[in-house]
Amino acid sequence: MRRYSRITGTGSYLPPRRVTNADLATELAGRGVETSDEWIVARTGIQARHFAAPEVTSSDLGAEAARRALEAAGRAASDIDLIIVATSTPDMVFPSAACILQRKLGVAGCAAFDVQAVCSGFVYALTVADAMIQSGAANKALVIGAEVFSRLLDFTDRTTCVLFGDGAGAVVLEASDTPGILASDLHADGQHVGILCVPGTVSGGQVLGDPLLKMDGQAVFKLAVGVLEDAARATLAKAGKTDADIDWLIPHQANIRIMQSTAKKLKLPLEKLVVTVDQHGNTSAASIPLALDASVRSGKIQRGDTLMLEGVGGGFTWGAVLLDF
Ligand code: ACO
Repeated sequence: MRRYSRITGTGSYLPPRRVTNADLATELAGRGVETSDEWIVARTGIQARHFAAPEVTSSDLGAEAARRALEAAGRAASDIDLIIVATSTPDMVFPSAACILQRKLGVAGCAAFDVQAVCSGFVYALTVADAMIQSGAANKALVIGAEVFSRLLDFTDRTTCVLFGDGAGAVVLEASDTPGILASDLHADGQHVGILCVPGTVSGGQVLGDPLLKMDGQAVFKLAVGVLEDAARATLAKAGKTDADIDWLIPHQANIRIMQSTAKKLKLPLEKLVVTVDQHGNTSAASIPLALDASVRSGKIQRGDTLMLEGVGGGFTWGAVLLDF
């Protein structure tokens, strides 16, 4: 009998400090940077984001989301034999955020590692966990997206600092006789490294290069719209499904205009588009599991619904996962 993986619990966590566009505009004005709620809402759909306190790390946010996902799945941390954390803002250069998070959950021994695919990270991590479960290498996985993107922002650059936020989302993924995950499709094109990057690195005890986020917003926008449609279509084809089989589209929450345009290309009514970017901003690898958990807990997404998850981000990376919830 074929082995599948299925999500048995979801969880998420947002740091308590909520910053509205108006709050941010006031803060930026103090630095001589001009922006407005009207501009941010019209161009991105974002109304607010959460920022973590300076001492709070991605593994702190991820551990809290993981605890909530474990509780929803009715599992203990000791039941887990694989932890994958998708993040571009790990606590330290090494060890991985996954190892630090494992310790925070009070367990030891299970495999734990990070996946770095920027905003596609959760879709990449979920695909890796699914493959490990299908192969028998794991039985019960925690797959987590956790970010403190606020640490990478240049608060003198209004074209980027208004877009991002901090948070974490998690799922428990377990071996099952029935799907679960139906198909996935991952891609990268390193030709586009420069359009979205944090070019700095650590060398000889110093930061070399610029450690703040750089983005060519229009280039990202154009690429994102095209690849998101392609990934969704490829994933549907692998699963033998069509657009009409999708109950909920959960794209990476970066910009409402990219998300709506993807839904339109897939001929989905906008009611089937899950939107949390308005309240969370772009939380990179955390955005999809955050949106998933919010919709599960609000009762919007029900057991048996078919979900299309789609990520796109720096690399350039992109991908999709189709699953029965
Ligand atoms: N407040 C006020 N004005 C602003 C702001 C701001 N925060 N930012 C830019 N502007 C101004 C610009 O200076 C420009 O003014 P000008 O015409 O006088 O020169 C004007 O607004 C238009 O700027 P554009 O960059 O052309 O605005 P655009 O409509 O392209 O929107 C945006 C910019 C929102 C960044 C858009 O390009 C976008 O969403 N791109 C995709 C970005 C994205 O989704 N990135 C993440 C995906 S991958 C990942 O998640 C890591």
